Amino acid sequence: MSHDALFQPLTLGTLALPNRIVMAPLTRGRADEANVPQPVMGEYYAQRADAGLIVSEATAVHPLGMGWYRVPGIWSDEMVAGWQGVTGRVHDAGGRIFCQIWHMGRLVLPDYIGGQQPVAPSAIASEGETFAPRPAGDDSLFLPMKPYAVPREMTQADIDEAVAAYGRGAANARRAGFDGVEIHGANGYLIDQFLKTSSNHRADGYGGSLENRLRFLREVIAAVVAEVEPGRVGLRISPTSERKGMADADPGALAEAIGTLVQEYGLAYVHLIEPIAAGFMDVPDNPVMDRLRGAYKGAVIQNGGFDAEKGAQFIANGDADAISFGRPFMANPDLVDRFRKGLPLAEVNFDYAYVGEEKGYTDYPAYAEAAEQAG
Ligand SMILES: Cc1cc2nc3c(=O)[nH]c(=O)nc-3n(C[C@H](O)[C@H](O)[C@H](O)COP(=O)(O)O)c2cc1C
Repeated sequence: MSHDALFQPLTLGTLALPNRIVMAPLTRGRADEANVPQPVMGEYYAQRADAGLIVSEATAVHPLGMGWYRVPGIWSDEMVAGWQGVTGRVHDAGGRIFCQIWHMGRLVLPDYIGGQQPVAPSAIASEGETFAPRPAGDDSLFLPMKPYAVPREMTQADIDEAVAAYGRGAANARRAGFDGVEIHGANGYLIDQFLKTSSNHRADGYGGSLENRLRFLREVIAAVVAEVEPGRVGLRISPTSERKGMADADPGALAEAIGTLVQEYGLAYVHLIEPIAAGFMDVPDNPVMDRLRGAYKGAVIQNGGFDAEKGAQFIANGDADAISFGRPFMANPDLVDRFRKGLPLAEVNFDYAYVGEEKGYTDYPAYAEAAEQAG
């Protein structure tokens, strides 16, 4: 089947994309131990610059929101300088890149923040465990795992500080040469923790009613659009996701309310993770796309288990404006070309998903190179 729909140009807010194939944000742990982006990251993103749009890996806006080994941040001048190297490489290769701005809230292990308690809307720990920092002298491939800690309920001052950090992160992203920012409101991180009923039990103006649970996101959006024009701001959400003990009593109503909010601010796009195929998350019983679309008239990027055929079908049917691909971009730097020519895809080695330097990161060959190597 032809995948023509993926290759139609698209205007996302005020940014023109040459195709509708978006590189989904992918945490890869190749910053340094001080969370400063490294030149190898520029190489990796430049290899993938023919995506219509690259959304960067999640990038922490505040030290208290950073809880993953060697992820990048964007709160200091050193980090901005590191990112300038990356965005410069992408632009030289003809690409476009947004910065995904991120605060992990209760998903931060105390190990990453000097033993402090992580912050969250309510003092409810996430389910499960996560990667702890690498112990000194340990050079094994795999990171140790630890259970999540019980967070401290954020005070008004904590909330104000976090909101300001998103604004500063957006301003820094602009200084670092990004084409725009994507607010990470998905996957059980801080904004999602405020949005969903399972993790937000607050009794003040940030909890209870849907309007109150949206208040933190509304303040974050306002802080971000004060720094970056709304036509260059996107929002990623996962209203149906129940990973990490997350759940909402009514994901459809939540999606519609988020759509109304984003419409009010005129953001460039909503990036919806609504798994279509099994694999990354369970398929929701009750998809929320229609509720979102009813309220929001801008572009929707759909994500979650797509291949080229399904993605093209979604765009052709009007169920999405663009499709983002995560895992397929890891092992296929030339994914756009492979989709165009109908070439087979290489498989990811997940041992190197979050650790390693060049290996399993920048050393995946393009199709023609791989064919040559195979003789
Ligand atoms: C290694 C890895 C890292 C990821 N890092 C992020 C991230 O930093 N931010 C984010 O919003 N999603 C992240 N995700 C989720 C992906 O963006 C995407 O939603 C998921 O892989 C499903 O899309 P796919 O089926 O095309 O892979 C990550 C997924 C993987 C596999």
